[in-house]
Amino acid sequence: MHKVIIYGAGSIGNHLAHACRNKGWDVLMTDLDPKALQRTREDIYPSRYGKWDPGIQLRGMDALPNEHFDVVIIGTPPDTHVSLAIQVLENSSPEVLLIEKPLCNPSLEGVQKIVDLQKATGSFVAVGYNHTLTENSRRSARIFANNTIGDPITISARFREHWGGIFGAHPWLSGPRDTYLGFFERGGGASGEHSHAINIWQHFARLVGAGRIVEVSATMDMVDDGVVKYDRICLINVKTEFGLVGDIVQDVVTEPAQKAARIQGTKGFLEWFVNYKSGHDALRYWDGKGEVRQELIKKTRPDDFKGEIDHVEQILNGGDRAGSPISIERGLETMLVIAAAHLSCRNKRAMRINFDRGYTPEAVELL
Ligand SMILES: NC(=O)c1ccc[n+]([C@@H]2O[C@H](COP(=O)([O-])OP(=O)(O)OC[C@H]3O[C@@H](n4cnc5c(N)ncnc54)[C@H](O)[C@@H]3O)[C@@H](O)[C@H]2O)c1
Repeated sequence: MHKVIIYGAGSIGNHLAHACRNKGWDVLMTDLDPKALQRTREDIYPSRYGKWDPGIQLRGMDALPNEHFDVVIIGTPPDTHVSLAIQVLENSSPEVLLIEKPLCNPSLEGVQKIVDLQKATGSFVAVGYNHTLTENSRRSARIFANNTIGDPITISARFREHWGGIFGAHPWLSGPRDTYLGFFERGGGASGEHSHAINIWQHFARLVGAGRIVEVSATMDMVDDGVVKYDRICLINVKTEFGLVGDIVQDVVTEPAQKAARIQGTKGFLEWFVNYKSGHDALRYWDGKGEVRQELIKKTRPDDFKGEIDHVEQILNGGDRAGSPISIERGLETMLVIAAAHLSCRNKRAMRINFDRGYTPEAVELL
């Protein structure tokens, strides 16, 4: 049985604890805040999954056992990810270290060290872009592989969702100023919080052979009241190394939410939806000849994380690391676009991502 430790007993910590328990794994959750551990046992876990699971161990950070964990999950706020990840990799070598998205703040500070430590320890480091591993994304990959839509012409992706839902799930927070969400420099705002859109754009671009994003031009609607400073709307135009152009929209204002992507090809198109209608993801696609096909995919919120944890299990069993859609390199490609979007907005200029410079702030330069 695999042993898992989860740092951060908040919203994502509970989702991933539940997904790991469904595999029969041994789970320990820890948190800086004792109230978070209490809320997990008395409120979050039982209200989401029906009852508390006494098989989950809850421990304060000062009472952690000195044991090897096969899987370490970092489910804390983005501005704590890098130092925690470095600490984990320096003190132990878990088979898998899964860090939640976004990997860090837009300064990218310290991330190269995680990449270096991954190499030195042999651990597989992943970033939690779980939407690349849900059933709608797996089916999309098969449709692209069958060349149903022809050659790609453009890709569009959007995660537009009012963050009332997030605050609803965190009733102890009074608003964005109480958390990283209200501070883009800590990894909050629409650019960081809804970076699933950038990531799924990149995932599909890779699947259709369009390459990596190398040019970024962004416009943001910034909220700055002297305390909070975050983008509530983040509009990004991008171009890949092979010349494909497209757009990405992320916001924290749209109600009801829209989470979708569209790939237009020379023959037809594919549209990918999260929560297309209650309890369902969906795909719509067309090969340019017959009817537009629509597939509804029944799912629950726990299913959003099932594919990700199945994938972690495959990695534990020796599965392909290099092609993993949640590898740290993929998470870093997304971080580079977030960093470039902020610089583009500030400079009112398009930015270029130069991958020869590694995962450093210097990789992003004026076009
Ligand atoms: N993949 C997804 O769909 C998804 C969903 C929700 C959240 N997330 C991501 O997960 C991360 C956490 O979000 P959340 O909503 O769960 O936040 P949260 O506030 O609900 O939980 C975070 C917990 O981490 C604890 N914490 C803070 N610093 C710590 C440290 N150094 N060591 C141990 N514990 C620490 C806090 O006390 C808190 O209980 C964010 O990066 C967020 O973007 C991803």
